[in-house]
Amino acid sequence: MKELKILAIETSCDETSVAVIKNGREIMSNIISSQISTHRIFGGVVPEIASRMHLENINLIIKEALEEAKIGFEDIDLVACTKGPGLIGALLVGISSAKAISFALDIPLVGVNHMEGHICANYLVHKDLEPPFIGLIVSGGHTYLVQVNSYTDFEIIGRTRDDAAGESFDKIARALGLAYPGGPEIDAQAKKGNPEAIDFPRVIIDKKTYDFSFSGLKTSVLNYINNQKQKNIELNIPDICASFQQAVLDVLIEKSYRLLKEKNMNKFVISGGVAANSKLIEMAEKMGEENNIKVYYPSKILSTDNAAMIGCAAYYDYINGKRDELSLKVYPNLEL
Ligand code: KG4
Ligand code: ZN
Repeated sequence: MKELKILAIETSCDETSVAVIKNGREIMSNIISSQISTHRIFGGVVPEIASRMHLENINLIIKEALEEAKIGFEDIDLVACTKGPGLIGALLVGISSAKAISFALDIPLVGVNHMEGHICANYLVHKDLEPPFIGLIVSGGHTYLVQVNSYTDFEIIGRTRDDAAGESFDKIARALGLAYPGGPEIDAQAKKGNPEAIDFPRVIIDKKTYDFSFSGLKTSVLNYINNQKQKNIELNIPDICASFQQAVLDVLIEKSYRLLKEKNMNKFVISGGVAANSKLIEMAEKMGEENNIKVYYPSKILSTDNAAMIGCAAYYDYINGKRDELSLKVYPNLEL
């Protein structure tokens, strides 16, 4: 088969990223320009600033991605971009650039679901990984337990009914005065704390559903923090972080394990920004070892938002016959 080179663009949130992917699973380049230091001042992503920064950066990042891959526009066979979910103004910058490239070079365009991209990050790291498997996608905006039947067929078995896992990390970190994004900060603090210090609730909902709920836990942690402050007791930040993190991870692992058993699956694939959490990986590996389940997760850089995963997802969509028209729209609330 002829080599297929994909230029992929990701601008759904606060990373402007462009990658060149060869034959679906080989990264020729993956440039990620993070806006985190700008948004950190505001304690979270400011959508208007995000789109403006994407607009300022996108052409430079495209150029850099081509240079690093040592190719020119004429070598690209297909252009891909994230079509949703994400911030509408941010998504529009990526999709407009992708359409311009598709039109100018007369090459196919494929719009990718960002959450599908997160799953695909694993194919870039684990060359032997193939569906079917059970996937846990844990990001800043979504929490899904999915049965991945093929490269393009996903069945959502569970989802969050309120806050996403990453969102709960960000909100608790903010209440503790830690920097945005909260996940890595809590991860680091938790290493110095005792996960059994405070007994925060594990919200299972009930045994019949694979859905998650993290807002009750969030309220419980916020109440605890306020209570301590009112009593003028100094907060033990490492203990709060470790206990909160443990409560989130216990539920994620328990539901994942139950689903793996129910479906008789022995492959568990974790993805999304929270897949960068060291304790989550440690717990998943332990669960895997004890139950003969092989556990997969991306490298840290491919866990959080990047264009390489979008290029990989576009490859499987494309070989499955998917093409988009220049009339392609963005879908800020797109589901998997
Ligand atoms: O996938 P992602 O980069 O963006 C979205 O699609 O949302 O995920 C970002 C989320 C943030 O909520 C961030 O706090 C969380 O991933 N995150 C972590 C860690 N690194 C990033 N959460 C827990 N532990 C980490 N080490
Ligand atoms: Zn993401």
